Amino acid sequence: MGEQINLFSDLPDVSAPGMKLPALKTPVWTENKAKLIAKYLFYFVLITKHGAYIDGFAAPKQPEIEGSWAAKLVLESEPRFLRDFFFCEIEPERAKYLYELVANQPVTKPKRHTQVLVKDFNIAVADVLASGRITPKKATFCLIDQYSFECHWATLAALAGHKSLGNKIELFYFLGSGWLDRGLAGFTANLDVPERWWGRADWRSLVGMNGWSRALLFCDRFKEEFGYKHAHPWPIYERGSSGKVMFHMIHASDHDEAPLIMHRAYRNATKANEPLEATQASLLDLLAKLQTT
Ligand SMILES: C[S@@+](CC[C@H](N)C(=O)[O-])C[C@H]1O[C@@H](n2cnc3c(N)ncnc32)[C@H](O)[C@@H]1O
Repeated sequence: MGEQINLFSDLPDVSAPGMKLPALKTPVWTENKAKLIAKYLFYFVLITKHGAYIDGFAAPKQPEIEGSWAAKLVLESEPRFLRDFFFCEIEPERAKYLYELVANQPVTKPKRHTQVLVKDFNIAVADVLASGRITPKKATFCLIDQYSFECHWATLAALAGHKSLGNKIELFYFLGSGWLDRGLAGFTANLDVPERWWGRADWRSLVGMNGWSRALLFCDRFKEEFGYKHAHPWPIYERGSSGKVMFHMIHASDHDEAPLIMHRAYRNATKANEPLEATQASLLDLLAKLQTT
């Protein structure tokens, strides 16, 4: 399980205006999407050596599948540079996985702050941001792995607008492209749900759109409305299909090196972590090159 094969010849060019990224050669499958996030953070914290991680929809979707749970992969990733963790889950019976996970961690020095919030993330986000732990200079990442339409646009705005100085909180936002059309078209009642998710009344305009164009539209809104310097959609495929994209992971960041690091993470999502020193040196080299261009 987890092996990547070179199956698709039509992986999209993930470049965005102003940033040329090498073509993607191998797909990331849905069961490996948590590994993509963990690999990206592994690389990123080798540079920052610190950081905070917020997971808004944190309980495992498939607790029985080893290696598929983002919260566990990120919390247990070595070296343990991330210091602050906020795990949110609305369902009390599913939050038990999070309590267990936290209780099973070794004591680290310096001590980590790990908090489980059993609440709607659209409400809990205010508690996280008011905690005093997400300070301007702290590299902070937030995973939004919703089922479909749970995360309100206002929640994204709160995360993006939290820091008045420094780089904004980085977002890993999962857009359920594989079933979005059907899901949106099915709303005949509870119309407030898609409206809060999209943050506007014109959510029906998304129905019938090409998935890639729709993901790019999200990226444009992340940049234009929230002010992110970079926002890229990373396709996550259904294994065994002939190219069905189940998710686009919208990655929004103010760091110039972030899209390149995500590209590397995408390529290596399922591989064992590379040796620390060599990886750190090549990432610092990448950073230096970006700073001189
Ligand atoms: C797709 S699963 C998350 C999967 C997880 N990230 C993983 O790596 O396996 C979504 C989770 O969000 C929870 N959830 C749904 N609505 C929520 C909300 N408004 N606030 C917080 N959690 C919510 C669900 O109960 C479910 O456990």
